[in-house]
Amino acid sequence: MLGLITGASRGLGLELVRLGLEQGHSILAACRNIEGKRMAQLLALKTAYPDALEILQMDVTNEVEVKNAADRIWKKYGHIDFLINNAGVLFEKMQTPGDCIRDLDMDMLRKTLEVNMVGTAVVCKYFIELLYRSACPCIMNITSEAGHLSPNGYNYLAYSVSKHAANMYTQKIRNYLEEEKKELHFRVYMIHPGRMDTVMGKENAEIQPEEAAEGIYEILTGRKKIPPMEIPFIDYKGRPMPY
Ligand SMILES: NC(=O)c1ccc[n+]([C@@H]2O[C@H](COP(=O)([O-])OP(=O)(O)OC[C@H]3O[C@@H](n4cnc5c(N)ncnc54)[C@H](OP(=O)(O)O)[C@@H]3O)[C@@H](O)[C@H]2O)c1
Repeated sequence: MLGLITGASRGLGLELVRLGLEQGHSILAACRNIEGKRMAQLLALKTAYPDALEILQMDVTNEVEVKNAADRIWKKYGHIDFLINNAGVLFEKMQTPGDCIRDLDMDMLRKTLEVNMVGTAVVCKYFIELLYRSACPCIMNITSEAGHLSPNGYNYLAYSVSKHAANMYTQKIRNYLEEEKKELHFRVYMIHPGRMDTVMGKENAEIQPEEAAEGIYEILTGRKKIPPMEIPFIDYKGRPMPY
C-alpha cells in the first residue's frame, strides 16, 4: 500500500514510517520542516529505502504547502491508499498554574486548534481525491483519549478541546463517506495511540511509540479485525474508546 503519514520527523510519526517501510509499504513522510538535524533518522531511512520512501515538506497548517505536496503526489502516483493524520501539538503541562478560564492563553488555544483540528481537515481536503482513487482507502486520525467528554479534570484544556473537535471532524467525514460514497468502502478511524514515551507524551508515558505503531498497522492491514462501528473511536489495540 502507498500511504501518507504527517508529523513524520519524530515520535509516533517516525515509528509509523519505519515500520511501514519494514512491512513493505511505500511511504510518503510529511514533515513540518525538512531541514536540520532533527531529520537525521528520516534521512537514514531514505538511504535504506530510496524507492519506497518519499519525504514531503508539509506544515499541516499551510494550505499552499499541503496543496503543492498533493499535486506532486497526484502527478507521480495518482492515488494513495491510506492517510494517517498524526501531526499534533501539546503546549500545556499537566498542572497549569492559575485560573484555567481567566488566564487561558488565547494564542496557545488558537495554535492548538490550528494544528490538531484544522490541520487534519487541510490534509484531508487536498488528499481526499487521491484516496478516492484507491481500491482500499483508509483514513486514520490520531486523536487522543483527551478528546472524550469526562465529568472529571480540567488539565490539558486547549489540547482536549482540539482533540474532541478532531474526533467530531472525523465522525462527520466518516458519516459523509458512508452516506454519499458507500461504493468506495472507506475505513475511517479516530485513534488513541496510547500514552507514549515521546517528546509530547513523556510526562505520562506507559508505552513506547513502536508498540503503538505496531497496533496501528495491525488495524490498517486488517490483521486486527475491527467490527463495524457507528463511532469508530478506538485505541491502538483496536479497543473501543469512550467518547
Ligand atoms: N504521546 C502521547 O502520549 C500521545 C497520547 C495521545 C495522543 N497522541 C497524539 O499522537 C500524535 C503523535 O504524537 P507524538 O507523541 O509522536 O508527538 P511528538 O513527539 O511531539 O511529535 C509530533 C509531531 O508532529 C509534528 N508537527 C507539529 N506541528 C506540526 C505542523 N504544524 N505540521 C506538521 N507537523 C507538525 C512534529 O514536527 P516537528 O518535529 O517539526 O515539531 C512532530 O513530528 C499526536 O497527534 C498526539 O496528539 C500522543
